Amino acid sequence: MAAGFAEAGADLELVGITKRFPGFTAIEDLDLRIPAGSFFALLGPSGCGKTTTLRLVAGLEQPTAGRILIGGRDVTNVKSYQRPVNTVFQSYALFPHMSVINNVAFGLRRRGIADPERKAHEALQLVELDHLSNRRPQQLSGGQQQRVALARAIVNRPSLLLLDEPLGALDLKLRRQMQLELKSIQNEVGLTFVHVTHDQEEAMTMADTVAVMNKGQIEQMGAPEELYELPKTAFVANFLGQSNLFTGEVTSSGGSTGAGASIVVSVGGAKIEVPRERAQRHTGRVTIGVRPEKLMLHPAEPKKAAGTNVLGPGRVTDVSFSGVSTQYQLVMPGFGLVTVFAQNMVFGPVVNLGAEVWVSWAVDHGFGLLDEPEPAPKFEPDTDTATIAAQVRRELMAEIEEG
Ligand SMILES: Nc1ncnc2c1ncn2[C@@H]1O[C@H](COP(=O)(O)OP(=O)(O)O)[C@@H](O)[C@H]1O
Ligand SMILES: [Mg+2]
Repeated sequence: MAAGFAEAGADLELVGITKRFPGFTAIEDLDLRIPAGSFFALLGPSGCGKTTTLRLVAGLEQPTAGRILIGGRDVTNVKSYQRPVNTVFQSYALFPHMSVINNVAFGLRRRGIADPERKAHEALQLVELDHLSNRRPQQLSGGQQQRVALARAIVNRPSLLLLDEPLGALDLKLRRQMQLELKSIQNEVGLTFVHVTHDQEEAMTMADTVAVMNKGQIEQMGAPEELYELPKTAFVANFLGQSNLFTGEVTSSGGSTGAGASIVVSVGGAKIEVPRERAQRHTGRVTIGVRPEKLMLHPAEPKKAAGTNVLGPGRVTDVSFSGVSTQYQLVMPGFGLVTVFAQNMVFGPVVNLGAEVWVSWAVDHGFGLLDEPEPAPKFEPDTDTATIAAQVRRELMAEIEEG
């Protein structure tokens, strides 16, 4: 059934793309290569240039400079309707007066393509909605309407499918379900998907490659695990999950090189080791980090062992239970706020509010960044309230700590 759609996707290549609007540069010298058949996510905060990038690929905007290639062919000057590209937007934009089947078949009919009805039914089967093909869009749920929009985009057999926050209007549970469905549909049809989102969990769940975009540029690109385990910039470390970041001077950059060598960074009177190969810079002032779930909490000072970093003592200032894990906020003099995620293996918290604690982590889990976090992180419009609350608290604690 899906065989009819199993045309190979195409490579997408952006070469030196710049897009300037009057008085504003939205994209700056962007290079990007997306291999055929991949599920690629473009992840970044609101306003970073994601939609502009898609509009350029779709031919709805002309780049100020640079070239766009699809399947090796330069399409920079090709009209949008002649590009092998289709786009699914956040708003489904279905025709309300037409049945589902006619919505899906519409484009095929208009272009005089043979067998529009049969092809539309095949596309609806793919999104598992063929049994509702006679309904009107308003008789469907939001998730179902989005699947119709997807069927309508796939029925044209584009080599490249662009998805601009297509799940943005759905509630969380439906979103998660649609993420898995979209992924299996992509698997089935084998098209190249470029999925734009500001939701890091969505990008990591769905894509085989994620590009993290910030201010019109790609900061880092790779497999989700790779980006998560080894972020290279402070923006990536904080946008993709959470990080504990510390800035200090490198006091030893490791005599030897190769596996096992580490740099030592002096932070707040402590010496923290980071594997040399996981650090982007080896001298001077550097920012290093470790993910909250890599930290172990100790109610008493642990013995310093080789291959382990220990910080403390600090104090527990917040304990938030979230089902599978508990998040602890600690204040560590000289380090500021430290966040720890602990899996709920036991009933009740590992340590209580106000307790004196130490943290430790395997040296192998640390990373060293290219840059430093921006001094005053500004609120992004997409920031969820939990993050805002954490940030407000962080700033308060910093004030308290400074006295
Ligand atoms: N037609 C336009 N004229 C001027 N500025 C624009 C235009 N379109 C987008 N921008 C600006 O370019 C930046 C990137 O926008 P956009 O690509 O829509 O971001 P995103 O999709 O990542 O939220 C924003 O600051 C936006 O205001
Ligand atoms: Mg957008």
